[in-house]
Amino acid sequence: MAFEPEFLDSALAAISSAGTLAELDRVRVHWLGRQGILSEAFRQLATLSGAERSAAGQGLNRARDAIEEAIRKRRESLESDDVQRQLARKRVDVTLPGRGVLPGALHPLTQARLLIENHFQGSGFTIATGPEIEDDFHNFTALNMGPDHPARAAHDTFYLDPGSILLRTHTSPVQVRALRRWGPPLRIMAPGRVYRRDSDLTHTPMFHQVEGLVVDREISWAEMTGLLSDFLHAFFTEGLKIRFRPSYFPFTEPSAEVDLECFFCAQKGCRVCKQSGWIEVLGCGLVHPEVFRQSGVDPGEWSGLAFGMGIERLAMLKYRIGDIRWFYDNDLRFLTPRPAASGS
Ligand code: PHE
Repeated sequence: MAFEPEFLDSALAAISSAGTLAELDRVRVHWLGRQGILSEAFRQLATLSGAERSAAGQGLNRARDAIEEAIRKRRESLESDDVQRQLARKRVDVTLPGRGVLPGALHPLTQARLLIENHFQGSGFTIATGPEIEDDFHNFTALNMGPDHPARAAHDTFYLDPGSILLRTHTSPVQVRALRRWGPPLRIMAPGRVYRRDSDLTHTPMFHQVEGLVVDREISWAEMTGLLSDFLHAFFTEGLKIRFRPSYFPFTEPSAEVDLECFFCAQKGCRVCKQSGWIEVLGCGLVHPEVFRQSGVDPGEWSGLAFGMGIERLAMLKYRIGDIRWFYDNDLRFLTPRPAASGS
């Protein structure tokens, strides 16, 4: 009768109960490794005599073949279990909700500009534009700032060609261009970029203005205050106190700056209004006769009102933005959609 080592059954049992590939490998080393049970049994053959040794040797060979075969089968089965587990883990659950998609939004400056444009378009204004690279005539001279006018100094102008070509310092040159191009009567607004050598918490070297110009027969100061009060109440809050404070611009006469009651502190005085209770938001006035003359319009026949406002400033107040530079940092925390801009 063939010799069968008594440990074969426990070897096969250990193999079939190995639950992972790593465990199976430990079982393999335990039985078949160089220091393993089989090797030791083979070494023990030397102690046997001829016939016994040959029978036991054959038995051990068969046992080793049986163990190797059992390990091979167990490995295959564990490997396919492993594949099944991986497949199960990677399965896509099509019923899960999708990942959030961030919607785009209009830049706060664009929102403010659109609100301003919509308001004035509703009052019959059309949009006009002019070049950002201007000449001295349209930016200064035609606006009643002759070569030696002191107001030029306040503009901190970027010159491309000293004395003649410059980056416009305000949108007012569009008044002159529109008058020369179309002549009166006229009702236009001109939004766009302007440039000044200025940089701090409330000033950037490039910023945006909207110019407004109405030219017709018998345009009055009252028409101007009505138009601007309507706009400010629509853009900010109905019923907000507004004051027209006498001021000076070379291209309007009389001129005024418009202040809003400070709605940050209810006029008690704070950082925004510099303790004055009022916030300056725009400049305006009746068109100076010299501007008409320079634009080829007869000041005896025509009259006009003009105004100019900074879009950054209006947007900072409306959306409570603390630093003008945030408009240009492209920080997504700033650019994420804010509550839909409305008229109030
Ligand atoms: N252009 C002026 C400025 O930049 C604003 C202004 C426009 C004032 C039109 C009066 C009339 O400050």
